[in-house]
Amino acid sequence: MPKPTEELAQLREQGLERFLHPLDSPAGIRVNRAGKSLWNFASNDYLGLASHPAIAESFIDGIKKFGTGSTASRLICGTLAPHLQLEAALAEAKQSQAALTFSSGFAAALGIIPAAVGKNDFVVLDKLSHACLIDAAKLSGATIRVFPHNDLAKLKSLLASIRAKSPDSQILVATESVFSMDGTICPLSNLLDVVEAFDAMLLLDEAHGFGVLGPTGMGLAEQENVAHRITFQMGTLSKAAGLSGAYVCASHDWIRLLINKARPFIYSTAPPPAIANSALTSLQIIRSKDGSALRQTLRENIATLTSSNSQIPIIPHILGSNEATLSAANSLIDAGFLVPAIRYPTVPRNTARLRISLSAAHPSDAVECLRAKLTA
Ligand SMILES: Cc1ncc(COP(=O)(O)O)c(C=O)c1O
Repeated sequence: MPKPTEELAQLREQGLERFLHPLDSPAGIRVNRAGKSLWNFASNDYLGLASHPAIAESFIDGIKKFGTGSTASRLICGTLAPHLQLEAALAEAKQSQAALTFSSGFAAALGIIPAAVGKNDFVVLDKLSHACLIDAAKLSGATIRVFPHNDLAKLKSLLASIRAKSPDSQILVATESVFSMDGTICPLSNLLDVVEAFDAMLLLDEAHGFGVLGPTGMGLAEQENVAHRITFQMGTLSKAAGLSGAYVCASHDWIRLLINKARPFIYSTAPPPAIANSALTSLQIIRSKDGSALRQTLRENIATLTSSNSQIPIIPHILGSNEATLSAANSLIDAGFLVPAIRYPTVPRNTARLRISLSAAHPSDAVECLRAKLTA
């Protein structure tokens, strides 16, 4: 059997083959899929900003002023005013010296980690880290070590053993503020105490914290008031910000080095300036009173679904087997709810799950209906 056919057959046998399911509507809180109208509990549009009129307007305005494409990489002639304005605004908002934007969060990780560490260094990852952190660590050529999810005692002993053998190596600890498939939060301040005790650096991926946590939505680092202690604050503009692209906030020197070394930044066409233009509007909204009101509505929806005062809009229902999870997702579709079945390799084997994600844009009665369906 030819390779693709064989591999696909194996995936199918294990309940792991994946398919594209196009929407027949715009992406939104209410979507049409395969002739069915569904409440969308699958997106990462936590604040509902992907359909915010002011953000759409500044996207269109950006196209009118700056054109559709950036025409080259940032270092050639692809840096336009909105790119720099967005980076300045992000640096200020994230209480950092400087910022750099990338075309995606995945590209940001692939740029940052190999620029920060190399062959004689170490990357220490939380076990549940996103694929982009794992792949970036592999690409860096550094030695990779993994600590159990949020286990600071294990992290401490791992760092102690690395430092004992390699006193001069760089150590980069990489973790997420909000874990994308588990909805857990990293114990950030305590983790920083451990990281600093061993003279290591921290890369914090705020993909799911940006927009959601902190008094002005700037993430867990803002919530715990520790931004100044984090070497790389990374996040994406594709989730709560409602657009696409990503950022890293760091010192002036680190950002200058990334401009010189981060290959997905250097060797890829710059994101369209219109995206940066609309991301500025998105950032303003996230930090404004309207943004706080959206976070409040989001928390009310979380309370409606979970009867808790959690701030995290990701609620996993771990069912274990692929078949049970796919069948639960299908019966939710029949009941009018789009909730994705998440399987290996996105999550460890035998921990397949439904991943419910909430948005401020969900009407509370839709959340109540989902709750009733889940508890029926
Ligand atoms: C934790 C985490 N980091 C990074 C990414 C990648 O971000 P992007 O979708 O902007 O590539 C994602 C999402 O896909 C994510 O969940």
